[in-house]
Amino acid sequence: MDSIVVQGGGPLNGQIPIAGAKNACLTLMPATLLSEEPLTLTNAPRLSDIKTMTELLQSLGAEITSMQEGQVQAMSCHGTINTRAEYDIVRKMRASNLVLGPLLAREGVAEVSLPGGCAIGARPMDIHTDGLTLMGADIELRDGYLHAKAAGGRLKGAVIDFPFASVGATENIMMAATLAKGTTVINNAAREPEIVDLADCLRKMGAQIEGDGTSSITIQGVDSLNGATHPVVTDRIELGTYMLAPAICGGEVELLGGKLSLVGAFCEKLDAAGIDVTETDKGLMVKRRGDEIKAVDVTTEPFPGFPTDLQAQMMALLCTANGTSVLEEKIFENRFMHAPELIRMGAEIDVSGGTATVTGVKKLKGAPVMATDLRASVSLILAGLAAEGETKVSRVYHLDRGYEHVVRKLEGVGAKIERVKD
Ligand code: UD1
Repeated sequence: MDSIVVQGGGPLNGQIPIAGAKNACLTLMPATLLSEEPLTLTNAPRLSDIKTMTELLQSLGAEITSMQEGQVQAMSCHGTINTRAEYDIVRKMRASNLVLGPLLAREGVAEVSLPGGCAIGARPMDIHTDGLTLMGADIELRDGYLHAKAAGGRLKGAVIDFPFASVGATENIMMAATLAKGTTVINNAAREPEIVDLADCLRKMGAQIEGDGTSSITIQGVDSLNGATHPVVTDRIELGTYMLAPAICGGEVELLGGKLSLVGAFCEKLDAAGIDVTETDKGLMVKRRGDEIKAVDVTTEPFPGFPTDLQAQMMALLCTANGTSVLEEKIFENRFMHAPELIRMGAEIDVSGGTATVTGVKKLKGAPVMATDLRASVSLILAGLAAEGETKVSRVYHLDRGYEHVVRKLEGVGAKIERVKD
């Protein structure tokens, strides 16, 4: 297992290119199941989660050619396909559940393993399955698998009111509805940019979708979808993560490909913390306004609110703010596992239920720490960049799931960082 070793101190200056969004790519890839014709994605990120989705789709019968070192994924799913998504692959990544809607839409049947436990919370699938049930699917849980069958072999349109704006459920139902008979309306739909990106791609494939980016999405089912080529939207979480690097360490960094519209609520909090973000013709420029980071309160919410996927990284910033910040985690019930690790680096954090109270200290101190999940791992790297001395982050396989070339990107702006074999 590899670790990442960071020597803290010093400002960061230069440019960091931002990749295509992992979470968008993970929902765009299963869309290939909806068509007999090829679907090609450009600007794909090079990540282990994308490899896992490739493996899963191949197990279902898709042909996938990865080109330009993984930045282009050419997929084709013609002829007979396998409708069973096996536990061995699904357990590696929750987003595997995104094959359920497309498989059911295409074949009228699907067997998809439940993803199982996840470090950041229970993450059930009831919103997905309740929606598909309203569309005429009969779904049973047997042997750890969801066994789903569409009445009459084809899903039908329905009006679905989500109890919570689940990202994955919105994506699954949207894909399922493209080939259903009649019209589907999703109320209280998620509004994340990745949903809009999926809708854009599905429209290129011939789907009829309106309202994506709002809380009510309408999908008029069609008989078949065609092929398409689609660029994956910029990764707003990678963007926000690297925006925090100059915020924490000082200096001035330009995030290539960044857009304010992807990180609005996050930028408001950065502004309140004393960090300036300006749009350039290539992306976003980030630097501190003065020497001091100000304390700010943060509550995570579905988009357009502050993203849960940036909460751990924001906490790393607030550890050295002047004053006390309160972070409330409203999306996942167990997403403060980075706090005990940051405490090992000298942070003052008190966690109670879904609330973390962070009292800023002058300086963090380097320490050996352990990554517990994807976003937690990068928050420890950010903290290490600003800490005194050396920080060694172990279990970085979490990081490989969501950040391509993290060492190269941070080295490029002057960070002292290396990957070592244990
Ligand atoms: C997606 C993102 C993930 C992000 C999350 C919230 C992908 C691949 N992953 O995950 O990075 O952190 O959105 O922005 O896009 N829930 C239920 N029942 C369900 C579905 C969800 O109770 O059927 C709950 C979950 O337990 C969780 C909350 O709803 O507490 C949010 O989940 P959801 O929006 O579905 O997240 P994911 O799609 O899994």
